[in-house]
Amino acid sequence: LRALTQRHDLDGETVLLTAGPTREPLDPVRFISNRSSGKMGYSLAEAAALRGARVVLVSGPVNLPAPEGVELVPVQTAQEMYDAVMVHLEASSIVIKTAAVADYHVANVPTQKVKKSAMRLSLELDPTLDILAEVGRRKQDRLLIGFAAETENLIAEARRKMQTKNCDMVVANNVSADGVGFESDQNEVVLVLSTGEIQPLPRASKRALADQILDQVLRLRLALHQ
Ligand code: CTP
Ligand code: CA
Repeated sequence: LRALTQRHDLDGETVLLTAGPTREPLDPVRFISNRSSGKMGYSLAEAAALRGARVVLVSGPVNLPAPEGVELVPVQTAQEMYDAVMVHLEASSIVIKTAAVADYHVANVPTQKVKKSAMRLSLELDPTLDILAEVGRRKQDRLLIGFAAETENLIAEARRKMQTKNCDMVVANNVSADGVGFESDQNEVVLVLSTGEIQPLPRASKRALADQILDQVLRLRLALHQ
């Protein structure tokens, strides 16, 4: 029955997805991370696989099972995510970067646990590599979709990220809105397209939004390649 009801509009595509947070170690027992649950990325992985794509899902640590038929590549740090993405980039025709990658990491992680003292402790952090920007530089004729997690200036920031990272679409996510965004099963997003269009997707389950985002990706492919 599923074979009959399934769309096959992603047959022949290889979708490279990143999802979840990254974890940047501070010492052997501590890390910096963020509130990303991975649900948006895992929903996109499931939807793309059901629509016929080969799906490679590079995922930070989350509490979700890999969707059926999806090739899971588990990673921890931004550097590991970068390396895994570059390994699978060549084979991919569509790249979707939902991951909430840490922007900073500790350059030289101490090999022993940091001990407490009564003094203020400062952390010195270095920027991580921007994976999406690097994929944008190696884009060729792939479709490249980024996410933008914002608490203010949603559309302007999404548009800026789309341009600086050479994306075809940025999914703008207001992560400070009630009941949506990080950790939630629901989301409401605005698609900012390289064609100049702005397409708001009203509040819905992340799984339903995943199919709507893929619909727009395919529509964009036709608009860009005709
Ligand atoms: N991203 C990435 N590598 C990073 C940081 C971000 O690939 N080191 C990707 C994310 O996966 C997302 C997009 O870039 O698709 C935007 O991430 P976001 O955190 O919203 O933007 P930043 O460029 O990191 O800027 P800022 O956090 O300052 O808003
Ligand atoms: Ca960031």
